[in-house]
Amino acid sequence: MADALVLAEGLTKVYGTLEQTRALDDVSFEIGRGEIAAVIGRSGSGKSTLLNLLGLLDTATEGRLVLDGRATDGASSRDRASLRNELLGFVFQFHHLLPEFTVWENLLMPTAIAGKTVDAALRELAEETMVVLGLEGLGGKNANDLSGGQKQRVAIGRALMNRPPLVLADEPTGNLDTENTDAVYRLFRRINADWGTTFLIVTHDQEIASMTDRILEIRDGKLVADVRNPVGAPSVAAVAAGLTTSRSSSAARS
Ligand SMILES: Nc1ncnc2c1ncn2[C@@H]1O[C@H](COP(=O)(O)OP(=O)(O)OP(=O)(O)O)[C@@H](O)[C@H]1O
Ligand SMILES: [Mg+2]
Repeated sequence: MADALVLAEGLTKVYGTLEQTRALDDVSFEIGRGEIAAVIGRSGSGKSTLLNLLGLLDTATEGRLVLDGRATDGASSRDRASLRNELLGFVFQFHHLLPEFTVWENLLMPTAIAGKTVDAALRELAEETMVVLGLEGLGGKNANDLSGGQKQRVAIGRALMNRPPLVLADEPTGNLDTENTDAVYRLFRRINADWGTTFLIVTHDQEIASMTDRILEIRDGKLVADVRNPVGAPSVAAVAAGLTTSRSSSAARS
């Protein structure tokens, strides 16, 4: 795939010196633009390690990582930070919002900290993000006073403020009930359809995984399966033909 958004070749991460853990072992794959892929595997298999490497939050012991055509190996920490700003959005299991600040402030803060002026264009971006995330009317509310599902939507909004081509989500629904889990998944789908955003989602939720386009399975640090998902990305035709589950049908309707 010449135009891959993510190209990982032989990614390996060894933790420790005396007692070594090979948390990731020679993992190679490509992710194309606009894909929604799930990363599954048991606890301790290396999923977060993989996401941290792809997100330039950690460096590989061996291997090569190219993001959006740009080699990341050997990049200075400053260059890595600017690649992160430009290309990546992160969503974690815990929302990590600033509790004493409003929704609006939580959306704008990272950009302001990065040194950008909060101008009309940025405000417009935040407004649009609020609408897409279904947070209209909540801008002035303190993050503390939101429901769990609303908090996670703000966290997703914050990750999208730069309109990154790639969102890395590590157990984004691990803390949510079924209804909010579905809402987050539908949101990812809609953003993917509207903005072409690529999503890589670590999940323990079989149903979420089964609704993605592709599943990567990690076992003991190795990529042991990489399958295109026949029921993921349900097309209208497939739904009409009754080929998908009810959950994926609801995703298709959103
Ligand atoms: N900073 C670290 N130092 C040493 N070992 C680590 C470190 N981070 C992770 N590990 C080890 O690397 C392996 C993979 O961990 P990782 O966090 O990637 O697993 P995971 O698949 O995300 O698990 P979970 O589903 O529980 O989140 C584990 O054996 C873990 O103990
Ligand atoms: Mg993890």
